[in-house]
Amino acid sequence: MSDVTVIGLGAMGITIAQLFINQGLQVTLWNRSQNKAENLITQGATFATNINEALKASPITIMCVFDYAAATEIFQNVEASPNLAQRTLIQLTTGNPEDARNALLWANTLGIHYLDGAIQAAPSQMGQSDTPILLSGDEKVFRESEKLLEILAGNIIYLGGKIDAAATVDAATLSYVYGAMTGFTHGARMVEVAGLDVAQFGKIVKEISPSFGEFFQHEGNVIQSGDFTISESPMRISVVATERILQSSIDANINTEIPAFIADLFKRADSAGLGDKEAAALIEVIRD
Ligand SMILES: NC(=O)c1ccc[n+]([C@@H]2O[C@H](COP(=O)([O-])OP(=O)(O)OC[C@H]3O[C@@H](n4cnc5c(N)ncnc54)[C@H](OP(=O)(O)O)[C@@H]3O)[C@@H](O)[C@H]2O)c1
Repeated sequence: MSDVTVIGLGAMGITIAQLFINQGLQVTLWNRSQNKAENLITQGATFATNINEALKASPITIMCVFDYAAATEIFQNVEASPNLAQRTLIQLTTGNPEDARNALLWANTLGIHYLDGAIQAAPSQMGQSDTPILLSGDEKVFRESEKLLEILAGNIIYLGGKIDAAATVDAATLSYVYGAMTGFTHGARMVEVAGLDVAQFGKIVKEISPSFGEFFQHEGNVIQSGDFTISESPMRISVVATERILQSSIDANINTEIPAFIADLFKRADSAGLGDKEAAALIEVIRD
């Protein structure tokens, strides 16, 4: 029996398998295209003949394929077998909450313990002390797998027993990232059209980002507490700031879709009487 099985040998799966091999673990591999395993096999890993053999080979299997459509295709080839009972499958393929719930149902029918996770790092960032991976599912199964997962990432964030928690928080994190990305891109256009240095703008954004991270952590605490008494940043400041960004964009004769959308949200917050609340009270507009 090997220590761990890795299913999926794309950029991320190969990195995962390599990190286990580097720790001297016996690793079993399975991938749709066997040729991707060649280098890992020369380092002592074993390639399983089929998906059932792969799952059977180790107490814990890590799966990391392109998406859940690929994962589901692989699941469909798993045959029910007493050999699979008590095996643990940790799904690190990125998916949505519904995917995680369906995968748990599938695993339950085969007696496989199932954890769902989301990697929040690139392959080159794996295995570091601060590499983040979100995990959710049965706590006992998680605790039994924790040591192995720590080889992949020093910052394992266990989100509790709800199987869809990792996928939900991963999507929520990406919502933040893409919100920032769209705002950044509009800002870059403002800088560009003014004939200023966009690279320098990027550097300024990098330098202010840690303190904005602190701010969002505070706003998260505010939303969780439900107490929107002004504690850091009054809503009315954001109302006028977002209106000013919109007006500046109109004056510069550039695309206004992004600032118009944002200014509208804050204007609605103001109209709803939230001007004298903490900025995080914007969630009241979104809850509506
Ligand atoms: N790379 C990143 O920066 C990064 C960061 C965070 C999270 N992730 C997540 O990690 C997961 C894997 O990413 P990756 O970068 O390793 O992707 P990738 O390099 O594109 O590899 C895709 C893997 O999925 C397999 N696959 C695709 N379709 C399949 C199918 N229909 N049946 C069976 N296997 C199939 C591929 O097998 P073949 O080799 O046979 O094609 C390969 O092993 C994704 O969910 C991604 O969102 C990646």
